[in-house]
Amino acid sequence: MPHKSTSPLRWGIASTGGIAEQMTRTIHAMPGAEVVAVGSRSQKTADRFASKFNVPRAHPSHTDLCNDPNVDIIYVASPHSEHHDMTVIALNAGKHVVCEKAFALNTGEATEMIDAARRNNRFLMEAMWTWFIPAVVDIRRRIIAGEIGKIVSIDADFCLNISDPNGRHRQADLAGGAMLDLGIYPLTFPCFVLGEHPDEVKAIGRLTDGGVDATVAGVATFPSGAISTFQTSLDAVSGHGARIVGTMGRIDVDPPFWFTSSFTVHSHGANPRHITMPNEGLAHEAAHAMERIRNGHIQSNVVTWDATLQTMQLLDAVRKQVGVVYPSER
Ligand SMILES: NC(=O)c1ccc[n+]([C@@H]2O[C@H](COP(=O)([O-])OP(=O)(O)OC[C@H]3O[C@@H](n4cnc5c(N)ncnc54)[C@H](OP(=O)(O)O)[C@@H]3O)[C@@H](O)[C@H]2O)c1
Repeated sequence: MPHKSTSPLRWGIASTGGIAEQMTRTIHAMPGAEVVAVGSRSQKTADRFASKFNVPRAHPSHTDLCNDPNVDIIYVASPHSEHHDMTVIALNAGKHVVCEKAFALNTGEATEMIDAARRNNRFLMEAMWTWFIPAVVDIRRRIIAGEIGKIVSIDADFCLNISDPNGRHRQADLAGGAMLDLGIYPLTFPCFVLGEHPDEVKAIGRLTDGGVDATVAGVATFPSGAISTFQTSLDAVSGHGARIVGTMGRIDVDPPFWFTSSFTVHSHGANPRHITMPNEGLAHEAAHAMERIRNGHIQSNVVTWDATLQTMQLLDAVRKQVGVVYPSER
């Protein structure tokens, strides 16, 4: 359903955690958009968030947020375990949805979410913001243009020290673990910049006592012949860079690679070129979602539903190999 191009798109923020705050600040600063409501599991938390960010309406449940007639699009910013139900409720209420990564617990849930978007004729996109960051888009363009030759290898890491035993990252029932939260970036960065999906992924990992992945290292092979390696962990802080090696040179991506502003191109026989690009963080994906909705589309042409399903299949394969099964999957 196209949105009237003259009126601002009205966002409802579903949940009140860290990234919900960041997205609310981002949308407030964007033209053609406003945050009109927030939903939380409690009225008190919704009220606190609404007053902090000057949001007109605060709802004490997700259903109330989704039934708010003033909301056009819902941003789902809850733990991974909640993405499926919150997204389907929003779509069934006639709202467009941008849902945080990892999109769902597994491919089965992701398929149901996409079916709900199709059935309700509403826009749905996984919030994989990296794929809209200008420097990352430019790296992809250079790779596809053959600037550093045929790609041989890509490696990237995203390890953080997240020790709180009660936080969502270490809770199996909230679909915690390093892969869905952090590892998804080094796993899928090569897919985006190469413009292809791996034909095989292999991973090893160590689990926490609570049964989620604490540390994972893996390798993927691509139809073009490229090989990628990825590392992720909840136990230590890594360098957060990425390196792309081709037959005619390499690109060193400055950290943090998943929302980098700069990179260096080393072409054989030429001086290294350090390139810096503008970076407005979450605003790029939000602007893309709004542009697609205004033009009557129900999916992104960047983070397509196929791309999201392929990401979920990769995450499922990695989790199977390292032995992570979430309680709701047993
Ligand atoms: N794009 C990025 O850069 C980025 C960065 C960080 C995280 N993320 C993604 O964003 C999502 C949220 O991450 P976050 O770091 O913002 O999480 P967080 O700070 O832990 O906040 C999650 C929020 O979800 C709500 N919630 C709903 N059901 C819940 C439940 N059963 N248990 C706990 N909280 C529940 C809570 O809000 P209420 O109390 O109001 O219900 C909570 O504040 C995840 O999918 C994560 O992977 C993306």
